[in-house]
Order: sequence, then structure tokens, then C-alpha cells
Amino acid sequence: MTPEELETLISARRSNLLIDASKEVDSALVDRIVNSAQWAPNHKRTWPLRLAVISGDSRRTLGDTIADAMAIHGDDEMKVTKTRGKFMRSPIVIVIAAAEGATTNETEENKYAVAAGVQNMLLMAESFGLAALWGSPAKGANDAITTLCSMEHTDYVMGIVYLGWPTQSVSAPLRPDIKVTRLT
Ligand SMILES: Cc1cc2nc3c(=O)[nH]c(=O)nc-3n(C[C@H](O)[C@H](O)[C@H](O)COP(=O)(O)O)c2cc1C
Repeated sequence: MTPEELETLISARRSNLLIDASKEVDSALVDRIVNSAQWAPNHKRTWPLRLAVISGDSRRTLGDTIADAMAIHGDDEMKVTKTRGKFMRSPIVIVIAAAEGATTNETEENKYAVAAGVQNMLLMAESFGLAALWGSPAKGANDAITTLCSMEHTDYVMGIVYLGWPTQSVSAPLRPDIKVTRLT
């Protein structure tokens, strides 16, 4: 791959939820996407990445689990109802969490490492022509999600990635100029 090809891949990646929910994604592709996350850097080799790959009826279980937690936390009823079916919008849903560190600083750096892993996954998905979107987990649902995904309750859910074949492409939001300080 040339630097130009890498630049093109990076800038072509979009958050895209225009996904054909009925079109399966080969599990070999999903595995390659998931494995790419583990190649992200992580300070002191703490290997904080925790993942759950969810498909089929379990997507509804995930929705119900999060919706129930939202209801307990007094979230708006419309939002709660919408959440029940929201993970059916893509054939694959990936829950990504960061393990707790031995110190507050390590816990924070573990999250950076996992975020870098998510970007690897998004780029890998883009390279296959797949659509993906990093969604934020509902506040107050961390325990419910980690329990369902057989993770530690101290794991911090960083995001829920929707993955599948696109039905449409989306245009790129304009990027502001980067604020760069150059000291010479
Ligand atoms: C930590 C994080 C959380 C995000 N959560 C959501 C979300 O809950 N819903 C959503 O539609 N997009 C979410 N996004 C995607 C952003 O909206 C998207 O990256 C941004 O609009 C820029 O578009 P692009 O990814 O196509 O460049 C999230 C992105 C990040 C990094």
C-alpha cells in the first residue's frame, strides 16, 4: 500500500448507518476487523481491549438490555422504546470496552488504546467496502451491557459499532483546519 492509498482509505471512511440489515457479513471478514483492533498501541502492554460480536436475535437482547437499564434510570419513554430495536439496523453489532487499569492514569490510557483499536476496525471495515458507525452507549447502561457480554463490571463500554453492507454512501462532513503548533 502506498502512502497515497492509505490517505485515501483514511479520508474515505465515514460514519454510515445506511446499512442493509438483511445482508450477512462473512464471519471471516468480521474476524479480520476485530483482530485489527488488537494491533493498536497500548501503554505498558496492558492489552485493555474487550469485545463482543453480536448478531441474530442477540441484537434484540442487547437493545432490550440497554432499554431496561435506561428505563430504570428514568430515560424518556420514547427513547427507551426506540432503543429496543435499534441494533437490528445492522447484521453485526460490536460492543467495545476498555479494561480497568491498576491506577486512574492506566485506566485513562487504556481507553485511549481501545479508541485507537476502534479506528483500526473502522479502517479495516472501509477497506472491505463495509459501512460502520461508532455509536455511544446509553448512559447508565454500562453494568447491563458488560453483564450481557460476559465482561468484567469494571470494564468501560467505549462504543457500540454497527457493521454491515452499505445501501448508500454518505457525504463527508467538512473538516476544520487543524490547529497545529510548529516549533522550530
Ligand atoms: C466516541 C464517539 C462516539 C460517537 N457516537 C455517535 C453516536 O452515538 N451516534 C452517531 O450517529 N454517531 C456517533 N459518532 C460518530 C460521529 O458522529 C462521526 O464520527 C462524526 O459525525 C464525523 O463523521 P465521520 O465519522 O463520517 O467523519 C461517534 C463518534 C465517536 C468518536
